[in-house]
Amino acid sequence: MPTFKGDEATNYDSRIQRLIPGYELLHDLTLAQLHTLFPESARILVVGAGTGFEVVRLAMHNPKWQLVAQDVSEDMLEIAKSRCLEAGIQDRVSFLAEPLAHGKKEYDAVVCLLVLHFLPDDGEKSHLLRAIQSHLQVGKPIFLADLMKPHTPFEREAQLFACENLGLTSIGVERMRHNLTHEFFPLDRMRLADLLDECGFDSAKPYFQALGFVAVTSFALP
Ligand SMILES: C[S@@+](CC[C@H](N)C(=O)[O-])C[C@H]1O[C@@H](n2cnc3c(N)ncnc32)[C@H](O)[C@@H]1O
Repeated sequence: MPTFKGDEATNYDSRIQRLIPGYELLHDLTLAQLHTLFPESARILVVGAGTGFEVVRLAMHNPKWQLVAQDVSEDMLEIAKSRCLEAGIQDRVSFLAEPLAHGKKEYDAVVCLLVLHFLPDDGEKSHLLRAIQSHLQVGKPIFLADLMKPHTPFEREAQLFACENLGLTSIGVERMRHNLTHEFFPLDRMRLADLLDECGFDSAKPYFQALGFVAVTSFALP
């Protein structure tokens, strides 16, 4: 997994939009569903909040939403904090710079975008998903986006070409080519379905796909 510390944190915002085709659309579509489900108040946990892109967008959208931004990288969350201050939303966002522990069922929704794919499927993915499930009220949604196993033999190559078109340098493309094979632990649909089931969620409902990146929503079971 990248470290998401130091320069990797500082440069994150300029890199990510060139690495994930449709990055903003993914966040827009997540927001659209939260808006529809929770037109009034809601408590939303953002797991792997990074530099705060979704936190700022969500908090700015609905002043009645309360957010918790969690991440294991203090450097990423420091950037998120200053973005929240700049946006004047600091009183509605709290920060948790530590691994997510099991907790009370106090959240109406969890957003976990582009995080789980960095965890190996040796118990780490299920550990995080179970912790998330423990925080979600029964029947409430998780929004999950991850790199999946390639659906065709040419998908990864097409993805790199799309990144190049988004302005990624040739060095960046080669780094991404290496990372796609060595830094991610993508699942296929069957394994994702099993994992969600094991961790107390219902079936995955897809709402976004950009080549290998897929987002789904799923609801917490009792
Ligand atoms: C690619 S960034 C995504 C950030 C943000 N969600 C976004 O969409 O821009 C992945 C983030 O997940 C965090 N992360 C990695 N493993 C994690 C874990 N086990 N629990 C919480 N956050 C984690 C990293 O520190 C990093 O900030």
